[in-house]
Amino acid sequence: MKQNSSVKKRILINPSEIVKENKYHDDSRSGNWERIKNTFVKDIPKIDFDDIGGCEQAKRELMFIVKGLKNPSILKKYGMRLPTGIILHGPPGTGKTLLIKALAYKADATLFLVSVDDISSKWIGEQEVLTGMLFALAEANAPSIILLDEIDSICPDRSNVREWYQRIVSVILQRMDGVKPSDGVMVVGTTNLLKHVDPALLRPGRFDKLIEIPPPDKKAREDIFKIHCRNKMVKNINYRSLAEKSEGLTGADIEATIQFAIQPKIMEELFENKKPKRVRTSDIFMAIDSFKKNRRIIKKEDNTQFYI
Ligand SMILES: Nc1ncnc2c1ncn2[C@@H]1O[C@H](COP(=O)(O)OP(=O)(O)O)[C@@H](O)[C@H]1O
Ligand SMILES: [Mg+2]
Repeated sequence: MKQNSSVKKRILINPSEIVKENKYHDDSRSGNWERIKNTFVKDIPKIDFDDIGGCEQAKRELMFIVKGLKNPSILKKYGMRLPTGIILHGPPGTGKTLLIKALAYKADATLFLVSVDDISSKWIGEQEVLTGMLFALAEANAPSIILLDEIDSICPDRSNVREWYQRIVSVILQRMDGVKPSDGVMVVGTTNLLKHVDPALLRPGRFDKLIEIPPPDKKAREDIFKIHCRNKMVKNINYRSLAEKSEGLTGADIEATIQFAIQPKIMEELFENKKPKRVRTSDIFMAIDSFKKNRRIIKKEDNTQFYI
């Protein structure tokens, strides 16, 4: 997958240029808009939904959002509004973050990537200011997607955490409640631990769409192998047999096994001066075996299994 070959860059507008009396503008402790931009705004790698295997239902939902963001008049005609918030949940390495990057790319949106370290501060009140600036900048540069990656660590269940976290959750809730559908700002959370996310976030009008991203089934694994073998030195790969052998592996695991399979070829060329050789199905089979040997398998109640 050529994830970094091409990125969309955009010139950002500072809210202060369009919102005259912005109370967040000159806050000296929190720095300035440039700092916020450098922290949160990410160039969007060129990722298409075709670069992601499986996740069919999620792709359909996200494509609908792309179309909706680009054709607001059609949604208006039917009296429909897009959700302000969406949460993608499922095991780690199944493509949640990737799907949101594809959403941002296809929607031609500004992507704000937020992790807990970026938003936390030891200064009283600074979290509020940072979050306020983040949402103001997102509104000024709409359509925007604010991605709260690993939202369980940014907005954990308030009944179980220290006051410091409780404040972040309520600040984010306040900001989300202030977003109007016409603002073109969408907040997306991803998590492996939905039950650890504060339940107040899941109320209608906030994160009102939950999309489950399950571990890939056989067909999806076949597609993921194909995607990650694109433009690589491979020969006569039997994708169907790889899909069968890789039960329990996620997209990230599959990407890792292909890397494992490639390394010995490079070592032969580098250390033994051998001619370049292509990776074959049997090489990936061996890589899958050693991958599984090094991991612990987890079985879920519904009989699906994955490796950690
Ligand atoms: N469905 C998928 N199709 C293709 N590649 C995938 C898929 N899921 C995961 N990957 C690979 O694993 C990496 C990590 O995926 P990511 O989206 O960060 O997982 P998550 O956010 O669900 O933990 C991706 O960059 C990609 O290389
Ligand atoms: Mg992720």
